[in-house]
Amino acid sequence: MALLPILCYPDSRLHKVAKPVETVDARIKTLIADMLETMYDANGIGLAATQVDVHERLIVIDTSEQRDQPLVLINPELTWTSAGKHLNDEGCLSVPGIYDGVERFDAVKVTALDGDGRSRSVEADGLLAVCIQHEMDHLMGKVFVEYLSPLKRNRIKTKMLKQLKEANA
Ligand code: NI
Repeated sequence: MALLPILCYPDSRLHKVAKPVETVDARIKTLIADMLETMYDANGIGLAATQVDVHERLIVIDTSEQRDQPLVLINPELTWTSAGKHLNDEGCLSVPGIYDGVERFDAVKVTALDGDGRSRSVEADGLLAVCIQHEMDHLMGKVFVEYLSPLKRNRIKTKMLKQLKEANA
């Protein structure tokens, strides 16, 4: 297993649209293990392959308190969304230190393949529903800050670029 570098906003690679995973083979299984290790190491609750510069439809999530319930969703598709939405503060491993409100469906149903290539369907509400929607956005090349006002987004962009400059100095 290996820790993977996480792309940071405003890296243009975060805006690539992911392609479906063709087969859940050894390469994908290694990627899943590495993504889980990377997510746990960074104390995140979700990570999309896009964030580690792999542009295939794969996400890993763990919203459990004990950090022992990994959820792997390959080629996820929303099959149902609730009528209601709510505003929720979100953060992202690709936008470290930034938290802001995004409106998401209260509940969703999703079909996907699991880490062994078996078809599964997941019903989610609460934090898990928010996380699934956030991670699925990554696969479409969308980062949560794009829901914020242009003013806020530009401030975040400036802050991130400054941090990057300092880190490379
Ligand atoms: Ni994210």
